[in-house]
Amino acid sequence: MLPEQHDILFSFLAIVFAVFGIYVFGNVVQECREREGSNGKLWGGVFGAFAVTCFMMTVHMFSLVQADQLAFFFSTYIFVVILMLIVWGVFYKSIGIEGQSPPIIRGFFFWTTVSVLLAGYTNWLPQQRSDPPPKEAAVVGDVTMEEFAEMGRVIIFGAKQVAGQKSIGKGQCPLCHTFDPGDHMGRCPNLFGVEKRSNDRVKEDRYASSPMAIGELEPASGIVKGKPDEIPEEYRRQHGPEELTGEDYLRESLMCPTCYVVEGFGKDGDTKSPMPVITKPPISLSRVEVNAVVAYLQSKDTPGEFAAVTVPLPQDDAGNTGGAVAEESAEDEDRPVFVTGTEDIQAMINTLGCPLCHTIPGVEGAMGELGPKLHEKTNAPLRIKDPNYKGKATNTREYVRESILNPSAYVVFNEEAGELFPDGLMPTSFGQMVSVEALDKLVDFISQTEAPAGS
Ligand code: HEC
Ligand code: HEC
Repeated sequence: MLPEQHDILFSFLAIVFAVFGIYVFGNVVQECREREGSNGKLWGGVFGAFAVTCFMMTVHMFSLVQADQLAFFFSTYIFVVILMLIVWGVFYKSIGIEGQSPPIIRGFFFWTTVSVLLAGYTNWLPQQRSDPPPKEAAVVGDVTMEEFAEMGRVIIFGAKQVAGQKSIGKGQCPLCHTFDPGDHMGRCPNLFGVEKRSNDRVKEDRYASSPMAIGELEPASGIVKGKPDEIPEEYRRQHGPEELTGEDYLRESLMCPTCYVVEGFGKDGDTKSPMPVITKPPISLSRVEVNAVVAYLQSKDTPGEFAAVTVPLPQDDAGNTGGAVAEESAEDEDRPVFVTGTEDIQAMINTLGCPLCHTIPGVEGAMGELGPKLHEKTNAPLRIKDPNYKGKATNTREYVRESILNPSAYVVFNEEAGELFPDGLMPTSFGQMVSVEALDKLVDFISQTEAPAGS
């Protein structure tokens, strides 16, 4: 299980509350012992129950994913703790020593208030915009490299940052990739240091020959490998050597993933990339957007330093689709990724990005290969029967719902590869991206998927 699936702050608070519940119990028992006439059994029982409840709620917190943890903490846990504090106050009053309540109570009230305020603050954060890049600038052509790279960052991560949630822009890259050193989630390369290695990759013998040779046409993307001069002039690097550079490699990685497959990350003996062609549906970035993403990739490891960026800035001349791009992305930036349930099912599934990883019968273009084929009408009952199944579902709909909200509840075995599918690759954030109705609709649809007849 990945650490990001838990909320560190609230898991920590839960542990502290459990310890505190036990402390209060001990304190009450001790006070009763020291005083004749106080009803030790009653008070001991009451505070014993509080301590056990806090402990059990803390255990429960650890079985939840982040979003549910927050919900549980604020709907239940915090009230039990406040109730306990009030009863503790009543206890002190009843034995006539309210003046001597340990200073820790006051400290604790202060602390509870602070954590409630803090939580209010994190809930309020989603309404905050994280400095959207200057949209107009991207059209008129007088952008600086810094703004252009920022446009790339927004394409990858989106303009809206939601606290505690993985941020994903229209490029959808964070669905599969990580960007920070040491952060791995399985089947896709970590993009930290990719600028540096892009320059080496094109010089490898492996690049020249595998899985295809320079000069060959890659059918899925329609791109000829290793021929940057086939790219329309206004999008292509303007200066530099004849031989291939890191920029060419990065652009090709996006526009023709199968031209070169990173060792160990491909299908069929690394001859085929599971990464979608970024310039085709469902992601469909324009050439300017591809360049912006490359500018971001080339500069992200050196904050504030753009010397390594070699892509041309967008120009305001004819033939540049900059205008169209800005319109598209302006709309995109203003809309957080959220599905209400009024969309048709195809649009809904495409917006959420399921087709990038799953092949889904009945959804056009859903040919993803990083996760299992969604044939849930037949598969779900098998999963539930599996002796390794530890989830809570008892029927297909429940299983599908559980798989969407908490993918780690059961990790599917990949028969073809003879190993488990990577745990932690499927995002755990879908719960925050869909309304209740949308989730129902999605679960209905996925529960009915089965292998197409004749296969
Ligand atoms: C469905 C999952 C998926 C998505 C979405 C995806 N990638 Fe990839 N990407 C992969 C996989 C798998 C590989 C390794 C195989 C290969 O070389 O193509 C890869 C390889 C790469 C590489 C080469 C890395 C290296 O070390 O040489 C780059 C660069 C890259 N992706 C960038 C991106 C960017 C930028 C985006 C978003 C615009 C993106 N990817 C979206 C799965 C994905
Ligand atoms: C980044 C890749 C990725 C994305 C995006 C993704 N999934 Fe998955 N999904 C996986 C992987 C990998 C598994 C298998 C590992 C596991 O069981 O947790 C999986 C498992 C599942 C399963 C269980 C399948 C079975 O046969 O038991 C369901 C159902 C599912 N995903 C539905 C969805 C839906 C619906 C979406 C979109 C809302 C989605 N997934 C998006 C990667 C992804």
